[in-house]
Amino acid sequence: SRPSALQNQSILITAGPTREPIDAVRFIANRSSGRMGFAIAAAAATAGSQVTLIAGPSALPTPPGVTRIDVETALEMHAATLTRAAEADIFVAAAAVADYRVAEPATNKVKKTDAPSSLPLTANPDIVRDVAAMPDGPFTLGFAAETDDLLEHARGKLAAKGLDMIAANQVGDGLGFDVDENRLEVLWTGGGATLGPMPKRRLAAALIELLGEHWHAAR
Ligand code: C5P
Repeated sequence: SRPSALQNQSILITAGPTREPIDAVRFIANRSSGRMGFAIAAAAATAGSQVTLIAGPSALPTPPGVTRIDVETALEMHAATLTRAAEADIFVAAAAVADYRVAEPATNKVKKTDAPSSLPLTANPDIVRDVAAMPDGPFTLGFAAETDDLLEHARGKLAAKGLDMIAANQVGDGLGFDVDENRLEVLWTGGGATLGPMPKRRLAAALIELLGEHWHAAR
C-alpha cells in the first residue's frame, strides 16, 4: 500500500467529555464516551503519525503508540491544547467540551440544606476556535454533532470557527454519542464527502485518510 500522507506528521487530538465541578464531589458533564477521538488517535498512530491525545475523563484504554494527557475541565483542556498546538501539523477537535462551567464552584461539599436554587454559569473558551486563529497554526479539523439541520449547522461552524475541515454527525435517535456505528458528513471550503455508516474504528481510518489527502493538498 502507498505510504500515508500523515507519516511522521505531528497530530494533536482532543477527545472525550469535560467535567465542570459544582463543588468538591459534584460536576456537570455530558454523554461523550471519547470513542470517536480515541479511534482517530489509533488510526493516526497506525498511519505513522506522532499522536498526542488530550483526553477528558474516559474509561477507554490509550491506543498503542499514542501519548495521552488526561484533563478534567474545559479550562484544563484549553491550556493543555494551546501549549502544544504550535508544534502540531494537524489539530483534531473531537472532544465534547462543555460550553459553560459553574461560575464559582464550592471547594467543600455543599450541604443539601445549603443548596442554591440556581447555579450561575460562565462561558468556557472555544478550544478549536482559538487554535484555528493561531498564525501559522496547525490544519484544523472540528466536529459538529447535531440533532437537526446537520449540513447547515456544520457549514456555519466551519466558517465561524475558521476551520479547515469539519466532520458532522447526526446525534439523537440512537446515533452518535456512546454508540459504535456512526456516519460522518465531512465538509471543507468548496467540497464534501460522506463516510459510513460504519463502526467508529473504520470511520476513524477513513477520516484520517481523507484528512491526509486534504492536508497534503493544502500545503
Ligand atoms: O460549537 P460546537 O460545540 O458544536 O462545536 C463543536 C466543535 O468545537 C468540536 O470540534 C469541539 O471539539 C469544538 N469545541 C472546542 N471547544 C469548545 C467547544 C467546542 O474545541 N469550548
